[in-house]
Amino acid sequence: MVDLSTSYMGLSLRNPLVASASPLSHTVEGIRRLADAGVGAVVMHSLFEEEVEAEAERQVALSEAGSESFAESLSYFPEVPGVEAAGKRYLSVLERASAAVEVPVIASLNGTGPSGWTRYAQKMESAGAAAIELNIYSTPPGPEEPGRAVEERHVDVLALVKAAVSVPVAVKLSPYYSSVGEVALRLAEAGADALVLFNRFLHPDVDPELLEVVPGIGLSRPQEGRLARTWLALLRPRVDIGLAASTGVEGPEDVVKYLLAGADVVMSASALLRHGPGHTQVLLDGLREWMSRKGFTTLGEVRGALAASGPDQAGRERARYVEAMRAANSNLTGPW
Ligand SMILES: Cc1cc2nc3c(=O)[nH]c(=O)nc-3n(C[C@H](O)[C@H](O)[C@H](O)COP(=O)(O)O)c2cc1C
Repeated sequence: MVDLSTSYMGLSLRNPLVASASPLSHTVEGIRRLADAGVGAVVMHSLFEEEVEAEAERQVALSEAGSESFAESLSYFPEVPGVEAAGKRYLSVLERASAAVEVPVIASLNGTGPSGWTRYAQKMESAGAAAIELNIYSTPPGPEEPGRAVEERHVDVLALVKAAVSVPVAVKLSPYYSSVGEVALRLAEAGADALVLFNRFLHPDVDPELLEVVPGIGLSRPQEGRLARTWLALLRPRVDIGLAASTGVEGPEDVVKYLLAGADVVMSASALLRHGPGHTQVLLDGLREWMSRKGFTTLGEVRGALAASGPDQAGRERARYVEAMRAANSNLTGPW
């Protein structure tokens, strides 16, 4: 009998499959559908501080314009929810969803300034978030900014939020630090309860016919999981905090590979968007089938079984790279 129960940053989960932030978690109904489909936890889409502030400004402008032009027009807006409407909507979904489903609901925050990060994190905690995931996406203000300054800012954000809330805090990492491993270790040292590897960013493209820049969100493919898997395998023996895999989960084998590399939980957004929340059972059934075929009964036996361990990891990585390049360069026909 296979037991899929596990724990992630102190949260007890019925299984290691987590719905990561996506439009599927925009509503209470959406979150309920994911929970009913069988996921172990749900991460809500991110609350973006700018979105809240922009809406607040629009509301203020709207009521000011109304009161200046015709005082009675204010009565046209009796339902104006006031400032921070977007934030209130988010917190209301979080609060109702946390009460409605049995699985942990993790809030996701993308702040801008220090007060925003802490203020919204505290509100999320009060609204019932089981944990908070920090989606620290920032474009450095200019090419002059050194990488160290960007990293310092990210560690500072974590420290601020950790000091402000008592629920577990995860950091969703970018793969674009100059030394991903060192940043991960610093975040672990600064108190992160978990790290999510990796976020997937907008890669806008250029349309040469329309002469326009086109947004490039798009869904992921399984090959994209290799980078996250490599870093999970390298980090697993080095940190004893939660590690979540995110990127490129399409079938059960992708879930299995991430667990073997060292993930505590495996997240999915693209596959659940592509196939619907019901795909959860395909992933979990496949995981169960693989575990019983291989003679594993608990996730503890699987987790990190193929993580990188032992001394001179860098030397072995280098040797593997040289070997792979030598083989590839002596073969014109693939397989690629
Ligand atoms: C349409 C869409 C919306 C997303 N929105 C968010 C978001 O609000 N916050 C966040 O941290 N990640 C967001 N993500 C990123 C996913 O949570 C996930 O980390 C990423 O897509 C990689 O996982 P996947 O390969 O399973 O899609 C979004 C992804 C997609 C495709």
